Amino acid sequence: MVLRIRKSLLRKGMYIEAVECADLEFSGRRFLLETDSALHSILASSAEYVLINRAKSNVDCGLPVCRQPDEHVQPTSLRESDQRTRIQHAVSQVTATLRDGFDEIKSGKFDIDRFAPAAMNITASLIASPHVLVEVTRLKTKDEGTYIHSLAVSGLMTGLGHLSDLGEETTRELTIAGLLHDLGKLLIPNAILNKSGQLTEAERHVMRTHPERGYLRLKQHPEVSDLILEICRFHHEALDGSGYPLGLRADRLSLPVRICTVCDVFDALTSVRPYKRAWTSTEALKWMFDRGHLFDRRLVLRLGSLIN
Ligand SMILES: [Fe+2]
Repeated sequence: MVLRIRKSLLRKGMYIEAVECADLEFSGRRFLLETDSALHSILASSAEYVLINRAKSNVDCGLPVCRQPDEHVQPTSLRESDQRTRIQHAVSQVTATLRDGFDEIKSGKFDIDRFAPAAMNITASLIASPHVLVEVTRLKTKDEGTYIHSLAVSGLMTGLGHLSDLGEETTRELTIAGLLHDLGKLLIPNAILNKSGQLTEAERHVMRTHPERGYLRLKQHPEVSDLILEICRFHHEALDGSGYPLGLRADRLSLPVRICTVCDVFDALTSVRPYKRAWTSTEALKWMFDRGHLFDRRLVLRLGSLIN
């Protein structure tokens, strides 16, 4: 079991899975905390939280360390095959719901409550089985690419929401936002959306309108929260202002938006595209970590702890 604790609660004998800071000293390192100097290095870092592996620790990490149940990146007693079955069941249910939901949106009808049960379903499944998350992303097929991408991003965002202490309500919004973030692609011509080769400059310009199109479409429905609208509109922005549609900089990009960006890019990199192989999770995380001017490194680290 992996636990997320404040660094002030660290003790020698604990096994470190990740130190949540951008310091290269701790990048990708997993180790048994054995010396005072290692402990002091972590305490002196910019990290607030540390992920520890209870099973690999030499000391009793103790449940009192965990302030809330959702701080656990669980999974304990379920057998691998049971976990796989649960995930596959959740995937088929959510995929069907997404398909129906998108059809309704296309025809002008929309009921966000349809998404809530699917969101709760995937949330429960993923909390129980975070380490098979990567398999969910591998269930993607080319024909259902957007649907399954949305599902995968939703699942990853749900996991990061829990790990980031955002609370049940906000995390539930993240789950729904993940399902809806690429809604604007429904309004992009198929000739561009499904083109197998590289896009021309003009086609790329059209494709880049999808965040704004999705935002404007969802905005027509008052039951869609401001947070979901914000995530849909800004999920392709970058910390240094080089993203789109508005070129916002870091100080205008909220944690939930950054969470969506990191999950979206991670899923894109680890998926097969007509022009590239799927990257491994490690390759994708390293590529993103090395681009701290674009992505929030704290979240890249947190994502790594979620899926590895
Ligand atoms: Fe997108």
